[in-house]
Amino acid sequence: MTIPQQGIDADDLRARMERYRGNDGDAAGARLFSLVYATRSDILDVAKDAYGRFFSENALNPMTFPSLRRFETEVLEIAIELLHGPAGAAGSMTSGGSESLLLAVKTARDWARLNRPHVTAPEMLLPVTAHPALLKAAHIVGVEPVIVPVTDAFVADMEAARSLVTDNTVLVVGSAPQYPHGVMDPITELAELAASRGILCHVDSCIGGFFLPWLEKLGREVPPFDFRVPGVTSISADLHKYAYAAKGASVLLHRSRALRRHQYFVHPDWPGGLFGSPSVLGTRPGGAIAAAWAVMHYLGAEGYLDLTRRAMDATKRMADGVREIPGLRILGNPVMSLLAIGIDERHADPVDLNVVADRMLQKGWRIDRQQRPTSLHLTVSPAHDVLAETFVADLREAVAHVRSSGEQAQGPSAMYGMLGQLPDRAFVGDALLDFMDGMDSMPTMLEG
Ligand SMILES: Cc1ncc(COP(=O)(O)O)c(C=O)c1O
Repeated sequence: MTIPQQGIDADDLRARMERYRGNDGDAAGARLFSLVYATRSDILDVAKDAYGRFFSENALNPMTFPSLRRFETEVLEIAIELLHGPAGAAGSMTSGGSESLLLAVKTARDWARLNRPHVTAPEMLLPVTAHPALLKAAHIVGVEPVIVPVTDAFVADMEAARSLVTDNTVLVVGSAPQYPHGVMDPITELAELAASRGILCHVDSCIGGFFLPWLEKLGREVPPFDFRVPGVTSISADLHKYAYAAKGASVLLHRSRALRRHQYFVHPDWPGGLFGSPSVLGTRPGGAIAAAWAVMHYLGAEGYLDLTRRAMDATKRMADGVREIPGLRILGNPVMSLLAIGIDERHADPVDLNVVADRMLQKGWRIDRQQRPTSLHLTVSPAHDVLAETFVADLREAVAHVRSSGEQAQGPSAMYGMLGQLPDRAFVGDALLDFMDGMDSMPTMLEG
């Protein structure tokens, strides 16, 4: 492919783009999970309109576009209130969970340089179930990750955590909830551990941060996880997940402005001018900031309560349905709308969940596969409420079909299952690199 010599007519381009997306997952159809947080078309319209209006604006320099500064400040004030930040709490909008987490780790590293000068090789504690974006952050920022094992309930093992803290530990991380099984780490205990050592504690509430507060307001039991927990020093919460904003929006909140200063980067000596940047990005798309602000105001508290109720209702019906399918179970004790469907080991004839996922794909359901132990992951959205029973019926049929046909995993599924089991993880890492390296020559990318 080379750039066309003559530009192509906009109508032709539109037609071509629609043709290209022929094999895509249906972002609005709610038959896929976790990549899209499907709600209603009117909410999407509000987000798209706001994004389009501020399409060209750039929050790199907040003095040029005071409107963006206002949107960001107001979004942060709302987030701080929802997560019970104390007076003086402060934050930034970022482009997503990974950027928020990277900045949380940078904050801890730079805070320790000032406040724990004896630390020469900083370490951070994180449960094995924590999102890999935290490991990526540790890798980039230069903090050594120390992995905390989890209990049978998939939550951080506190005894292990206590034994893994050293004089070099600068940060303790817990998830509220963690992604794989949707369960809450013991945030109170993790934060206590951090406070007892005088170090920082980050709560990764990227997926729960804009869901759990509404759930609590609906009267559900939500274990303490936000700034009401003494010792929690920062929280990440993604707007582009359960706040239903346009992609490219998250917040990182700190207990104090003093902590937030460690998140920032300044360079006063550049010939191009005095340079200060709050986050990783330089150019910051105004559309993502405006859309987050617009959706929050369009929905209001009542809107979020209603969507939370719908998502939880769908989750309950799906979980109840799964529990009635012989041989399946829900792993752990999920607190919100994330479910991991695992194998019930007591069943005489266990099914291969990878083959079940293949069968579900034939029925149009794109379900994520997990490992250690093998499970299927559901991130339930409000839009799933009209499909919950269909999902359960399809899953029941898929399990029965796999059992009666004796079908074995084939192709990518067999490979996935095999790679999950291999003891040589360095080999698996290489295989992943090969897979990523080969993405640009995959035939499906070049079709049409
Ligand atoms: C708990 C948790 N943390 C972090 C992330 C990463 O967020 P992003 O994909 O926006 O970078 C996710 C994404 O699902 C998540 O569930």
